[in-house]
Amino acid sequence: MFSHTSVLLHETIDALQIREDGIYVDATAGGGGHSYEIATRLTTGRLICLDRDPEAVQAAEQRLRAFQNCQVICSQFSKTAQVLQQLQIKQIDGILFDLGVSSHQLDTARRGFSYHTNAPLDMRMGNTGSTAAELVNTLSADALTDIFYKYADERFASRIAQAIVHRRAQQPIQTTAQLAELVADCYPQRFKRDGHPARKVFQALRIAVNDELGEITRAIESVFPILKSGGRIAVITFHSIEDRLVKQQFAALCRGCTCPPDFPVCVCKNKPQAKQVFKKPVTAGEQEVLENNRSRSAKLRVIEKL
Ligand SMILES: C[S@@+](CC[C@H](N)C(=O)[O-])C[C@H]1O[C@@H](n2cnc3c(N)ncnc32)[C@H](O)[C@@H]1O
Ligand SMILES: [Zn+2]
Repeated sequence: MFSHTSVLLHETIDALQIREDGIYVDATAGGGGHSYEIATRLTTGRLICLDRDPEAVQAAEQRLRAFQNCQVICSQFSKTAQVLQQLQIKQIDGILFDLGVSSHQLDTARRGFSYHTNAPLDMRMGNTGSTAAELVNTLSADALTDIFYKYADERFASRIAQAIVHRRAQQPIQTTAQLAELVADCYPQRFKRDGHPARKVFQALRIAVNDELGEITRAIESVFPILKSGGRIAVITFHSIEDRLVKQQFAALCRGCTCPPDFPVCVCKNKPQAKQVFKKPVTAGEQEVLENNRSRSAKLRVIEKL
């Protein structure tokens, strides 16, 4: 059973302004919750769903099997433009990114995303690339510090990285429990009140393993040129680091001008290419947060191509 409750479902679908004859991409199909709502609004339109996780692809295919005009493809979303080219799709009306991991991935112990259950330290959303164990056992202390600091603002980044390097010299770190315990040991008692000490380190490693920030940056860059004028990009983020990145990338498209801020006048003459659909990011209402704790940190940002 694939279980995942879609976040900001109606807000996102409304913001995409689905046209029944449009071509849409759900770049993060997961359990197919958002995809399903898009699919029901199409008549002659088409929906291309992507997910890098073969288990999600299977679940989304099941969920969408009644719709002839939907297809689910196993791919990283940074390759959206290539996938569409292969399908001979030249332009799209809208695309959605519901970032991060699904509840299914988090709750499947063997995937190694969670510090609550003991499992091999994997954390790959797909089945390619290095695992978290490989990073933890091979990167230098400086590289690990950087990951913990940049991807999660971990205040004890350096201390934890040193402890990892010290520990792995005696015995490789292979499991979620080994890592969670090591991180907890690095935390002073008085900081242990703010949730599990390993939360940030696990988030940071997951981002590094899956190159999550590179993926979304490249995806928006490569998809924007094939978005129709009036077409929309919707992104749901779940933590401040990815949200800041999307906010900046959207702001740059809406500003157009790329001149350094200290230039007195614009010399690049670049015009704005998009506009913000909402003044502020959309967040979950009280009721949704009550029903689904994961929605607490969700932020929806949407731009429309001019
Ligand atoms: C939050 S879930 C999406 C849930 C979905 N919107 C729903 O309603 O069921 C995120 C999904 O995106 C996938 N994903 C994350 N990063 C990806 C990437 N770079 N390329 C492709 N899929 C990715 C994950 O494997 C996961 O299944
Ligand atoms: Zn300029």
